[in-house]
Amino acid sequence: TVLVVDFGAQYAQLIARRVREARVYSEIVPSSMPVAEMLAKNPAAIILSGGPSSVYEPGAPTLDRTLFEAGVPVFGMCYGFQLMAQTLGGTVDNSGAREYGRTDLSVSKPSSTLFEGTPAEQAVWMSHGDACSAAPEGFAVTGSTSVVPVAAFENDEKKLYGVQYHPEVMHSTHGQQVLEHFLYRGAGLRPDWTTGNVIEEQVAAIREQVGDRRAICGLSGGVDSAVAAALVQKAIGSQLTCVYVDHGLMRKGETEQVEKDFVAATGVQLKVVDAQERFLKALAGVSDPEEKRKIIGREFIRVFEQAQLEIMQEDGPEVAFLVQGTLYPDVVESGGGTGTANIKSHHNVGGLPDDIEFELVEPLRQLFKDEVRMVGQELGLPDEIVQRQPFPGPGLGIRIVGEVTKERLDLLREADAIAREELTAAGLDRDIWQCPVVLLADVRSVGVQGDGRTYGHPIVLRPVSSEDAMTADWSRLPYDVLSKISIRITNEVKDVNRVVLDVTSKPPGTIEWE
Ligand code: XMP
Repeated sequence: TVLVVDFGAQYAQLIARRVREARVYSEIVPSSMPVAEMLAKNPAAIILSGGPSSVYEPGAPTLDRTLFEAGVPVFGMCYGFQLMAQTLGGTVDNSGAREYGRTDLSVSKPSSTLFEGTPAEQAVWMSHGDACSAAPEGFAVTGSTSVVPVAAFENDEKKLYGVQYHPEVMHSTHGQQVLEHFLYRGAGLRPDWTTGNVIEEQVAAIREQVGDRRAICGLSGGVDSAVAAALVQKAIGSQLTCVYVDHGLMRKGETEQVEKDFVAATGVQLKVVDAQERFLKALAGVSDPEEKRKIIGREFIRVFEQAQLEIMQEDGPEVAFLVQGTLYPDVVESGGGTGTANIKSHHNVGGLPDDIEFELVEPLRQLFKDEVRMVGQELGLPDEIVQRQPFPGPGLGIRIVGEVTKERLDLLREADAIAREELTAAGLDRDIWQCPVVLLADVRSVGVQGDGRTYGHPIVLRPVSSEDAMTADWSRLPYDVLSKISIRITNEVKDVNRVVLDVTSKPPGTIEWE
């Protein structure tokens, strides 16, 4: 394992990903972790990330010197570089030598471990107000810029390396190569970590954890729960039961995807609960968005817990585990805790015990989203599941502005299927984050079709581009694709006589309409 010590400001996650792209396994630890604890993990190498502090400010994060004396190869980047310099006796000061953004690095030692085979002048991404003016004793200066005399150094004998810039960002043109030189040449690691290893490791770990007891998993149709379930299924087979609640708010073909394609690909034991009537009844007469969300959430939990209870009452070993598709970014963001948490699942259906405790099985805790997709692919899941765009839990229920009825759901399902089909046919799936299709059920407008007047509903197309759904911009789809979608929807979907395009960013609009 390569440990990435996180000094803040989001660089650590990107570094960890880059290390994994070099096919070496990496994990992030907070800089507050005692050095003895880091070393107890037996890391093959350690990378010190950048961060927002100044090394000489009171209260700035530090590292015990023993980290550099343990014989473990260390690579410091930006703040990590300055910290290495200062801790080992070099000079770091605020000399007014600021650099932000693209800078040219001159490599002064072309045969160095980090820079061999890279150009003498290369673009690097800088972001610092302090600079190293003298390298520690025993270090060779390997690079400089017009502003900073010591922009890279190394002590090859002690396997200590550092660069002032950010090799992990795309703008550093040879950053990945320099990182790989550290991993392969400096630390002597081999590029042998793959998602295949993850599957093998996780399968063994899950078998160990679950033993001969049983586990359950809720499937939502989304990527994470599907891949988690497939992995656990591979490990414990029929000791796993998946539950899929069909609330009738899914898009066209999605329930079949889970019922047929997912089961065919994994052989998983699946309990499908048809709860369409129940949801429609609970939603009757309701058009307030928050109320709809609450009703859908509440009914979902009730149905899911009922299904859990039925499974637990079947003959067989104890059902002690709940499978969840938690990903690495969630783990890092919530403080990076390890071990298994216990969650309580409260029941409020008559005659059930007050609470049941499950132990969690979270086989994707180490993975980033794109790695989860790769694992899914390797497990043989169909592309339609592995490459799915985000879809909200309350489904089409929050894409009908107005009351949710069976008729309106069917109509929206048709319109949505047409939009998806045309976007896929135009090869635009990877260019957009998602494209909600919304039915304005409470709005009618006049139209003309054939020789007659129509009085129908508008459909809204809401294609957006985004990195993380926190902010988004409306996607500039080609006019001819929009035109095709519009013509098909108005021709093929009964009661729809108008298609409109949402050209609002987020903020101020949210991605969904409700
Ligand atoms: P908004 O509409 O808040 O949506 O801009 C941001 C992202 O979250 C999805 N979304 C949900 N996902 N349960 C979910 O699992 C929900 O209740 C929910 N509401 C919105 C939305 O599709 C978008 O990707």
